[in-house]
Amino acid sequence: MNDHRPTIGILNDGAAVSRAAAAALADQIRADPGSALLLPTGQTMLDVYADLVAIVRAERIDLGRVQTFNLDEFYGLPPDHPGTYRSYMHEALFDHVAIPAANINLIDSAATDIAAECARYEQRIAAAGGIDLAMLGIGVNGHIGFNEPGSDFATRTRLITLRDSSRAANAGRFGGDADAVPRQAATVGIATILEARRILLLATGGAKAQAIHAMLHGPITPDVPASALRLHPHVAVLLDRAAASLI
Ligand code: F6R
Repeated sequence: MNDHRPTIGILNDGAAVSRAAAAALADQIRADPGSALLLPTGQTMLDVYADLVAIVRAERIDLGRVQTFNLDEFYGLPPDHPGTYRSYMHEALFDHVAIPAANINLIDSAATDIAAECARYEQRIAAAGGIDLAMLGIGVNGHIGFNEPGSDFATRTRLITLRDSSRAANAGRFGGDADAVPRQAATVGIATILEARRILLLATGGAKAQAIHAMLHGPITPDVPASALRLHPHVAVLLDRAAASLI
């Protein structure tokens, strides 16, 4: 098993991490205007998308050929529910830049046949020529996307059951009520993530320090899904000082 060493950047604070991540996304799009991007949601990414919108506007970057794929989505919500990641992405990015609707790919939170929906999503990624840049956050439990601990590294897009910690972390978009967060979600799998040409993982804040340590220095194991990234030769990790405090 190849244990690659990710490139690690440690920056002063979360704002610097967001700016650097937005700059990396903009660089990717400038270099290849038809890039396929795998995109996460979550608190960490809100400032990244705000910074990206500012760069795209200031530099008039054309997003007309960019293709986006979101990493995950809650299952069993109407698509326009404020808690869906579809709603998050529209608020944070899609409503502020000109990415053609046909180029925006999201897992349908209300699909009646979720297995078929996940298979369709994998086919869409393949039809786009694969992912050029996958941007990832990390859960306090080491999850990437919603690949919770125990996720096999061969997994593809599929329905999963969320851990309570992940539901609690998402309560904010459900009126602060963790019980209102769906119990299931669909997520792009670890094998699919590892097929991306490049991966950029971001983490800020001391709550992520343990997960970052386990990802970089612990065993490569499904118990820490992010440790799978050490199997990939082109991973960059951007951290603020707090998230990097244990490495
Ligand atoms: C969400 C996703 C998750 C988050 C992770 C960190 O689309 O892929 O893996 O990136 O849970 O979330 P925050 O940034 O809210 O701590």
